[in-house]
Amino acid sequence: MLSMLSMLRTQRFAWGVGILMLLVLPLAASSASQSEPDEQQALMGSGVFRSYCASCHGTSAQGDGDIAQHLRVAPADLTRIAERRDGDFPYDDVVKIIDGRKGVKGHGRGEMPVWGDAFAVTSGGRTEEQVQKKIRELAHYLWSIQK
Ligand code: HEC
Repeated sequence: MLSMLSMLRTQRFAWGVGILMLLVLPLAASSASQSEPDEQQALMGSGVFRSYCASCHGTSAQGDGDIAQHLRVAPADLTRIAERRDGDFPYDDVVKIIDGRKGVKGHGRGEMPVWGDAFAVTSGGRTEEQVQKKIRELAHYLWSIQK
């Protein structure tokens, strides 16, 4: 009698685990696609980078742009963002750093332009969605060039 009961419990337990896996697995799969940069977005971002960022950070993104020598604070080497943070590319932080409107603790001495505003203003009438798209593309591009 007792063993019947415990068998029933184990079975229920097994079902529980099975259902949980069904719920969790698709989630795990979808976040796995975010473990590497999106090629298409990175490609779009490389163009944006050349027009807006290369003057300071350099076309190689290593901090050697034409006007870098005239700045008080040297532009960061953007191929080593992950390296500076134990190998993890901080995608969400990079989005916020580029945007600049939310303020990221531990970064920025006011030398890095606020691109959220700049993208909103340039080529007029840009919607917030378009601004965010551009910033995401830049973040994917930077992600794709990490050493
Ligand atoms: C006017 C020069 C200038 C331009 C243009 C510029 N940056 Fe920067 N950027 C800097 C400087 C200087 C720093 C270092 C800031 C600091 O240490 O306070 C920096 C830092 C950064 C960082 C932080 C790196 C880290 O590891 O914390 C990122 C990311 C970044 N820039 C991305 C961009 C992107 C993307 C663009 C183009 C949309 C861009 N920058 C355009 C000057 C510039």
